[in-house]
Amino acid sequence: MTLEKTTTILLTGGAGYIGSHTFAALIDAGYQPVILDNFSNSHPAVLDRLQQLTGQRVVRERGDVLHAGFVAEVLRHYACEAVIHFAGVKAVGESVQQPLKYYSNNVGGLVSLLQAMETSACRSVVFSSSATVYGDPASVPIHEQFPCAPESPYAQTKLMCEDILASLGAADPAWRVGVLRYFNPVGAHPSGLIGENPRGTPNNLMPYVTQVAVGKRARLQVFGDDYLTPDGTGVRDYLHVMDLAEGHVAAVQALLTRHQSFTVNLGTGKGVSVLEVLSAFERASGRRVPFEFAPRRAGDVAQYYADVSLAEAVLGWRATRTLDDMCRDSWRWQQTNPEGYEAGPDIPPRPGLRSRPNEPAQPAAVA
Ligand code: NAD
Ligand code: UFG
Repeated sequence: MTLEKTTTILLTGGAGYIGSHTFAALIDAGYQPVILDNFSNSHPAVLDRLQQLTGQRVVRERGDVLHAGFVAEVLRHYACEAVIHFAGVKAVGESVQQPLKYYSNNVGGLVSLLQAMETSACRSVVFSSSATVYGDPASVPIHEQFPCAPESPYAQTKLMCEDILASLGAADPAWRVGVLRYFNPVGAHPSGLIGENPRGTPNNLMPYVTQVAVGKRARLQVFGDDYLTPDGTGVRDYLHVMDLAEGHVAAVQALLTRHQSFTVNLGTGKGVSVLEVLSAFERASGRRVPFEFAPRRAGDVAQYYADVSLAEAVLGWRATRTLDDMCRDSWRWQQTNPEGYEAGPDIPPRPGLRSRPNEPAQPAAVA
């Protein structure tokens, strides 16, 4: 079955890092994405950038996934045929300090979205899960059949969401669910117009490296030099965000045409150490990145990378971009946007929605 060019896909959290890149990839593939975001961790200026990038008006609604009535209105108004659910909070350390924020937004947000979908005709959903559900794996590469052993409230929320989706699929076979377990997304769109825009001190390696290279931070701390890995530093499966975005396009296509649910890893299948990232980045940027070794970071595992054979079999997708591509594109984004997205015009909330997230609101009349 071929899909109509106008197939509309709702992207909750579509203004965020992965959502904005997926928006661009969906437009390239001929879909009509609609962004729903409360901008709690994104900047409205990304919308102007997406318009510049795609040459199309960016269809967006400001609101919270916790407002099921609002989400239902949006689904019906745009006749969405599938949802990609990116909206969520994602800082592992913060989830240990503030677990209720994570259970409420991530688990509560999914339940709210699914309730909204139940009131519409839309039964296809792609869910942003994470390799963190595997915990510390007994061996690598990690296959989807490996046991899940979440080690933080954040990871626990992702597994709980997967379980909720599985229960729904078991109760009603009309539901089609694509669970994507991302490994480590890095990089930016090659245009340099959109990229990762962390608030405050970055938690993750690549944005920290780019901020050191651009002079915003003095030096990188490499957490641990005594892991049982070839050079003693942590090994991860870094994946270009545009490959990840294209993985979502493949997932939507698979759900809408083959009507089967799946759970797959999205990674490159290749483990890369912190020191290897550093030297690739120095090569790509021509900048030196000062670093010092520091103690291991609590909760980090020595190494993990994906077995990607199932993604290839189910989605016909595999990552094609190299570590050098990831570094070059991260650097271009950072260099041309040293402060991330500039201040831009704010997006007013929908009528009927109050501005504070988590506050109950009347369903908005979507005009
Ligand atoms: P992000 O923070 O850049 O994007 C999330 C977006 O969701 C933001 O724009 C935020 O404003 C929005 N949002 C949050 N709560 C919302 C709510 N209640 N209602 C409406 N909008 C809301 O994060 P990202 O890196 O793009 O991650 C997207 C998803 O992928 C998340 O679910 C995350 O847990 C998951 N994930 C990310 C990574 C990673 O390394 N970036 C790895 C594995 C999984
Ligand atoms: N690292 C440093 N210094 C830093 C930051 C990170 O040495 O300043 C090291 C870490 O110790 C680790 C590697 O770089 O060895 C990667 O760390 P990240 O924080 O970039 O990524 P993680 O693998 O810890 O976790 C990320 C996301 C999680 C997600 C997981 C799998 O933060 O939310 O990838 O997708 F679940």
